Amino acid sequence: MPAVLRRKALLAAVPVTVTALLAGAGPAVAHGTGSAGVGDPYFPLAGNGGYEVGHYDLTLRYDTGSRRLEGRAILTARATQRLTRFDLDLKGLKVASVTVDHAKADFRRSGQELVVTPRRALRPGRAFRVTVDYHGAPKPVTDPDGSADGWIPTDDGAFVAGEPQGAMTWFPVNNHPTDKATYDFTVTVPKGRTAVANGVLLGQRTAHGRTTFRWRAAEPMAAYLATVTVGTFKVERYTTRDGVEVYNAVDPREARAAAPVLRKLPEVLAWESGLFGPYPFRAAGAIVDHAPDVGYALETQTRPLYDSAPDLATLVHESAHQWFGDSVSLTTWKDIWLNEGFATYAEWLYDEQHGGDTAQKSFDTLYARPASDELWAFPPADPGSGANIFGTPVYARGAMVLHELRRAVGDKTFLRILRAWATKHRDGHGTTAQFVKLAEATTGKRLDGLFQTWLFTEGKPRRA
Ligand code: ARG
Ligand code: ZN
Repeated sequence: MPAVLRRKALLAAVPVTVTALLAGAGPAVAHGTGSAGVGDPYFPLAGNGGYEVGHYDLTLRYDTGSRRLEGRAILTARATQRLTRFDLDLKGLKVASVTVDHAKADFRRSGQELVVTPRRALRPGRAFRVTVDYHGAPKPVTDPDGSADGWIPTDDGAFVAGEPQGAMTWFPVNNHPTDKATYDFTVTVPKGRTAVANGVLLGQRTAHGRTTFRWRAAEPMAAYLATVTVGTFKVERYTTRDGVEVYNAVDPREARAAAPVLRKLPEVLAWESGLFGPYPFRAAGAIVDHAPDVGYALETQTRPLYDSAPDLATLVHESAHQWFGDSVSLTTWKDIWLNEGFATYAEWLYDEQHGGDTAQKSFDTLYARPASDELWAFPPADPGSGANIFGTPVYARGAMVLHELRRAVGDKTFLRILRAWATKHRDGHGTTAQFVKLAEATTGKRLDGLFQTWLFTEGKPRRA
């Protein structure tokens, strides 16, 4: 199914409030201008109204010496309303030209918005192509929590991670997870450096002191999960027993520490497939960079990105995100516990089934923390602002929610719910309300009390 149709189906299923905010409703529609955001309460300018992107074709050249990027982005999109004007998200960089269906378009910059006025208005439903030529030295964006994401230069290339906002630091984009698309990447870097993106490597070619890498991400992907990380990497490739193409790229400085963990990747993916259902993508792997200033890893689709050699728990966590977060995407950043709580619970399950602590033990250790602990600072499904989306309650109390669900419904039913979630929403989206509904439908039980307490209620919940 084309992305646009799939998304229609999603919109039909999401609660009315979310539908309204996604539709870009309001006075702008009447004037044919696409709104500057999709209405995400935490990131109001993220994404844009009035169209959906089906495919990004990105051709990039990065000079690791001068740290300059030259890019051409071709977006294949569809108008969802009449458009005399629409926005893309792009922060920094210089735009040289914009065309819409091969005709030069007017454009202006306004903060992170690239405002495009096509020569002729686009009618609702119309497919169109936008080409943007741009260049400059990309810089990361600072997030509400003070962390940096986007294009982060390193001593030998760039660590490229876009959660939640950074995709717009390196390409013009409809920068919200509600709009998933497929991607082609053609990336040219100095010979000796490797550019690693998502999906399958289609080919690489060296000429005149430069190497061009061609990558294809064939399954729909949220923009924040796109990467084209550049560095001096040792590369390893193989195909798993399930036919998944693995491509690992490792900074030599991290190679010794990374090797024993990366060796476990096929086993971890097979174990997770056993629990969550088939691995959702045709490619897998890891990018282990040496980026000491970053301070986090990201579940970049098909190929998680690590700022240094990961430990096994982190590998399990980022791998679990391929199901929860990547294949099943957020509809609003407020629901981030659907990503982080699930990936954290996968770590607990891994421990439990591999001779470590039981999930009950992990739960109890956390539950023992005093009411004043940061763990209880806010409820996981209501972090309150973008500054809290990577806070401890989202990860740890998010996992505790799932453990409470498991205790309430039993192991077998619990796993049935997780699998149904991954299957029903594969390559799509999910909301907290939909998860609650699915849990109730699967069990035939009323679970609103449990979810109300653990997901939405301030403070440390009393034990049931
Ligand atoms: N989703 C990542 C994880 O696996 C964390 C990303 C943090 N991003 C940031 N800008 N601080 O938990
Ligand atoms: Zn995570």
